[in-house]
Amino acid sequence: MSWEKELIEKANEIIDLYPEKRSALAPLLYLAQERDGYISDESIVEISNLVGITEVQVKSVASFYSMYKEEQTGKYLLSVCKSISCEINDSRSVIDSVKEFTGLENYETDVDKVFTFEEVECIGACGGAPAVQINYETVEGLTPQKSIELCEWLKEEKPEVVVAEELQNMFGGVKSFDWAINDNTGSSYSVPGFQNIGTAKEKRI
Ligand code: FES
Repeated sequence: MSWEKELIEKANEIIDLYPEKRSALAPLLYLAQERDGYISDESIVEISNLVGITEVQVKSVASFYSMYKEEQTGKYLLSVCKSISCEINDSRSVIDSVKEFTGLENYETDVDKVFTFEEVECIGACGGAPAVQINYETVEGLTPQKSIELCEWLKEEKPEVVVAEELQNMFGGVKSFDWAINDNTGSSYSVPGFQNIGTAKEKRI
């Protein structure tokens, strides 16, 4: 299904932020993913036409970066870090707990489309290892038990917006540093909450 008028207007607003149309490729791919849950063939065509590069060029970028998904994800993308700082702080137990709770292996999505699970490389929260992200909202200092409680909460509450600060307060432990600024914006799908491209969603906490 081709893009609706409002989405094309939003895409053009983003394109206008850049000196070259093609420079807007990455944020437009996130718009596409927020719309469908993955980068569809229709979105490849739309973006190609909008920024003036070939469909192959759009596809090559979309398929290179792991944050652009080729299949629809669950409502909550669980990205558990497996890199060195997390590994030495027992991320393996967190990974095993999440896998056991969800019944998912790497890159799998459950039939109800609630969770997608993935093991990922460093997510930049090494000082608060082990760390995970829910729809790219980071939680640090998780324990295996807290990771299960987090999954249970997501499954039962099904929050429309997940906010890092709220998740951290409820389920996190030691943080890498004090985040300082209160941030009530989060993500509502497997797309980072970017203020400037409109994928960030506000939540009162
Ligand atoms: S190694 Fe896990 S956040 Fe850096």
